[in-house]
Amino acid sequence: MPDDLFIRTNAAVDFIRAKTSLAPKVAIVLGSGLGEVAAHITEATAIPYAEIPNFPRSTVEGHSGKLLIGKFAATPVAVMQGRVHGYEGYSPAEATFPMRVLGRMGIHRIIITNAAGGINTSFTQGSLVLIRDHINLTGLNPLTGPNDDRLGQRFFDMSDAYSSRLRALAQQHSEKLETGKLNEGVYIAVPGPSYETPAEIRAFRTLGADLVGMSTVHEVIVARHMQMEVLGISCVTNMAAGVLPEKINHLEVMEIGKRVEHQLTALLNAIMPEIVR
Ligand code: HPA
Repeated sequence: MPDDLFIRTNAAVDFIRAKTSLAPKVAIVLGSGLGEVAAHITEATAIPYAEIPNFPRSTVEGHSGKLLIGKFAATPVAVMQGRVHGYEGYSPAEATFPMRVLGRMGIHRIIITNAAGGINTSFTQGSLVLIRDHINLTGLNPLTGPNDDRLGQRFFDMSDAYSSRLRALAQQHSEKLETGKLNEGVYIAVPGPSYETPAEIRAFRTLGADLVGMSTVHEVIVARHMQMEVLGISCVTNMAAGVLPEKINHLEVMEIGKRVEHQLTALLNAIMPEIVR
């Protein structure tokens, strides 16, 4: 059974390598409404997920489902334009298959972005927040089942899962940009797809969460299993349920994402040359 995953990743890696000779050093996962960064990739080879062997396909609007291999700020990158989520019916192992492929391509650093609801009332809608840590409230783990020692260790540490080096680098550059000093926070992941109730949000705040979303944590678990260095950035597309009198609206979540895309692009552009040590 563990062999399966290894062989399935090989097929995807071989397919991608046959499309481009560029060897990406950094991967970027673009979250809901944040796909625009992709427009700044030069010398891009675009590969629809549907063509890559064993890749899951995204079904949500705003996640166009393409892997771009190209250059961003002179750095060879692999950009996932869109991701799949557990609520689409994928198991955590299936949904994180692209992480496996990126890791097996020899990429050691990954920037994972997402749209999130702001639980911390000092956060503002439309701001970028660095993820400092997470709480996996999905009840699931993508590593459930036999471990393949070629991919990573059975038991491993998660205490610096969101690299303090990369967070410091992001802060240092953000201070010189429109985004200024960024807030940092703990991201709590729920399965979705329904947004939370106000009571859940109050409970999550008590648990120590600052942001809530439906992605990222399984990807980070798999990335750390493969010893990739992770930078996590949330875009606060809305204040979480019950924080403000308004209801949460998916279209607004996407719209706010669009408004901060240029800030995310500027930040990634600034840190990219230094992310590879
Ligand atoms: N809750 C969960 N996921 C989200 C939210 C939210 O409020 N906003 C964007 N993604």
